[in-house]
Amino acid sequence: MSQRVKIKALLQSQQTDIDVTVKGWVRAFRSNRFIALNDGSTNNNIQIVVDFENTDPALLKRVTVGAALSVVGKLIASQGKGQTVEVIATDIEILGDSDPEKYPIQPKKHSLEFLRENAHLRFRTSTFGAIFRVRNSLAFAVHQFFQERGFIYLHTPVITASDAEGAGETFHVTNFDLDNIPKTDTGEIDFKQDFFGRPTNLTVSGQLEGELGAMALSDVYTFGPTFRAENSNTTRHLAEFWMIEPEVAFNSLDDNMDLAEEMLKYVIKYALDKNADDIEFLTQRLEEEEKQKPQNERSEMTLLEKLQFCLNHDFERLTYTEAIDILKESTPNKKKKFQYPIEGWGTDLQSEHERYLVEKHFKKPVILTDYPKEIKAFYMRQNDDGKTVGAMDILFPGIGEIIGGSAREERLDKLEQRMDEMDIPKDELWWYLDTRRFGSCPHAGFGLGFERLVLFVTGMGNIRDVIPFPRFPKNAEF
Ligand code: 4AD
Ligand code: MG
Repeated sequence: MSQRVKIKALLQSQQTDIDVTVKGWVRAFRSNRFIALNDGSTNNNIQIVVDFENTDPALLKRVTVGAALSVVGKLIASQGKGQTVEVIATDIEILGDSDPEKYPIQPKKHSLEFLRENAHLRFRTSTFGAIFRVRNSLAFAVHQFFQERGFIYLHTPVITASDAEGAGETFHVTNFDLDNIPKTDTGEIDFKQDFFGRPTNLTVSGQLEGELGAMALSDVYTFGPTFRAENSNTTRHLAEFWMIEPEVAFNSLDDNMDLAEEMLKYVIKYALDKNADDIEFLTQRLEEEEKQKPQNERSEMTLLEKLQFCLNHDFERLTYTEAIDILKESTPNKKKKFQYPIEGWGTDLQSEHERYLVEKHFKKPVILTDYPKEIKAFYMRQNDDGKTVGAMDILFPGIGEIIGGSAREERLDKLEQRMDEMDIPKDELWWYLDTRRFGSCPHAGFGLGFERLVLFVTGMGNIRDVIPFPRFPKNAEF
């Protein structure tokens, strides 16, 4: 009894005429003779050739799309076209039947929306197999990138008492009986009786805790789930998403931009090398989809070209102020084509503005810096002009903001003053402020939205399709 060999390895095998055991799920069965079997190790199927004249018809009937099989046979050089090797089956065992009348995933093309509702089975499709293999490679590459550079992977808490971004979009964490919430004499919720003895929530970012690590370990990064209760039903937002947040002591904003650009290029290149087949498949998928669109809406580059373009060009770096000048003078602004017209300096940029800069004006990834302090978080380093902070957002074609980061305000007096202005409770963040009291130093970091990266590399159109189990308003199935 030989060991199971993965289909990816079988298809690359230099050796033939060997006995193999292969296990997987049936993608197709034609002419009662050829089974296309897939085990998720690659998008390609192995062809199993059945000697149907000498096989029990009752068994053959159970070879249906979606059924799980174990096959023992001989790997041979294929006679037919479309594959280099195939397996001549000597023994087929049905591990799990799949009722063809009821199995939702058929060889015909399904809509992504349909598959989202069948998210427990969408892994069985070529598209989602490719997406999740690419996602896996990107996650691994993130770790490899930072590990090669001596960063410490720091696990920051999922449950916290702080709202790092101050946007008030947190999910509460409590073990109160919701039908009987303890109240104080004055009628307020008595959090003293709650599990942690205080109000707590799911983290929106590991940054503040990351900064504590950086103030001793110098180079750290977090890579974990984050939660935001923003009620935005867009193709770019999830309620639960993964974020990569490096934080580096002694780094300037320029160092921060260099690190971010280097990291993005590194992980994209890794996926291109490692998942060439999957990206080729996704490139074709996107091309098919683009054909449905009118000519003027089709993208000029294929997915593969877009990824290579991104690797081969420096990201454009400019200030928010310079970007506003470009946007003010832009054709869509003058022709009142923007949903949010550019009023002038100080307005927050909407994704339509970001995408104009990236897709129409510069036609490459853009790093915007030095935003007005009013539209950015309290922890960003204040510039000498008194109006702007050392922020940086990286904008990507088709995505908009993929990274947000900044130099951090390391000066205690300036930080406290800004917290007062923004009504951030200093007493609750005493532990954060302590880093500025004891051996503070310049430092910088950023957050990469992992799903937005996966969206870019796979060329998918909706962020819900690049995470195994998407959470969004009114949806937490599975
Ligand atoms: O710009 P954000 O809010 O920055 C922070 O949270 C900082 N604390 C990061 C840091 O400096 N350490 O979020 C960072 C990135 C965004 O650029 C975006 O890519 C992603 O996280 N993001 C989301 N992705 C999916 N769904 C959402 N609801 C997201 N909100 C932010
Ligand atoms: Mg941001």
